[in-house]
Amino acid sequence: MKSLRSVGIIGTGSYVPERKVTNFDMEKIVDTSDEWIRTRTGIGARHFAADDETTSDMAAKAALKAMEAANVTADEIDLIIVGTLTPDMLLPSTACLVQDKIGANGSAAFDLETACSGFIYAMEVGRNFVATGMYNKVLVIGAEKLSSFLDFEDRATCVLFGDGAGAAVLGPVEDGKGILSSELGADGSKGMVLKIDAGGCKMPASEQTLKDRLHYITMDGSEVFKFAVRIMGSASLNVVEKAGLTLDDINFLVPHQANMRIISAAAKKLNLPLEKVQINLTEYGNMSAASVPVALDQAIREGKIKEGDKTVLVGFGGGLTWGACVIQW
Ligand code: UT7
Repeated sequence: MKSLRSVGIIGTGSYVPERKVTNFDMEKIVDTSDEWIRTRTGIGARHFAADDETTSDMAAKAALKAMEAANVTADEIDLIIVGTLTPDMLLPSTACLVQDKIGANGSAAFDLETACSGFIYAMEVGRNFVATGMYNKVLVIGAEKLSSFLDFEDRATCVLFGDGAGAAVLGPVEDGKGILSSELGADGSKGMVLKIDAGGCKMPASEQTLKDRLHYITMDGSEVFKFAVRIMGSASLNVVEKAGLTLDDINFLVPHQANMRIISAAAKKLNLPLEKVQINLTEYGNMSAASVPVALDQAIREGKIKEGDKTVLVGFGGGLTWGACVIQW
């Protein structure tokens, strides 16, 4: 789509809860080892939210930091989009809870569920509202409290995920800057490889669903892995081409943080050494929709992304879904 207005990120923020849980801590919970987790995934630790800390609490903290960085007040926010698969409640939306917590009452607000691709999807939806001139400032957030949906008897999933939130404020930017190109996609035929069976209308919560542990995430890891390696590479290359650029133009990669082997494969496709890739799964694990915005905020605050740089953001997740974009800073 040819944008009517160029749209970019004008501020980012992130929040990761205090409680750090190392692989050695996980060894005490399930039959696993630091060595297995590190060599198969690259993950060294994850952070879990406090019992009384919710997805919207973390999202609001990240949002306020992004608004501060963007120099935008709550009454300037026109729309809030929260990408999450772990909402506080089924109703109301987490975006409405965040709106209240940050004092942006009156703005439009909704959730978007594309699992780990949530932030990139939210960015693209938000971009279109700003590009058309309907809104000026859109707050996009990826936030998750996955620890509430992990089966701590399933070693194949519980060691992988962590909690956190990342946010960005989108607004009009000068022509030639901002989001240059993007791609969103989904393959619903593979929806069942990453799922939470119960709690929806198909299988409402019951004594039986609780007994059968059906309210937790289950995953066919190797199916997701194969899909991820393929799609992270192809989506990254597609957005570079759509932006009219070559691989030599790309300075930095901010990928979804599921597995170091998946990240390395994407970096290789873009001809980027790992020093040009933001990696935080070593400390935070896979935070689903929060992974990309937290990594982006870190890269910006650490000075790894500079004015004039061209950065690829790419992610994939349950659905199965994927998303990618190129940003010119
Ligand atoms: O954000 C999107 C969500 N998820 C992902 O992106 C995950 C994508 N998939 C992956 O990252 C990888 O497939 C995993 C890390 C999940 C698994 O790695 P793998 O190399 O595909 O291992 P596997 O599932 O084939 O399991 C290999 C072995 C099995 O034992 P056997 O059957 O070979 O004896 C598992 O039982 O590793 C065993 N295993 C574990 N051992 C120690 C599985 N989980 C663990 C564990 N600790 N935590």
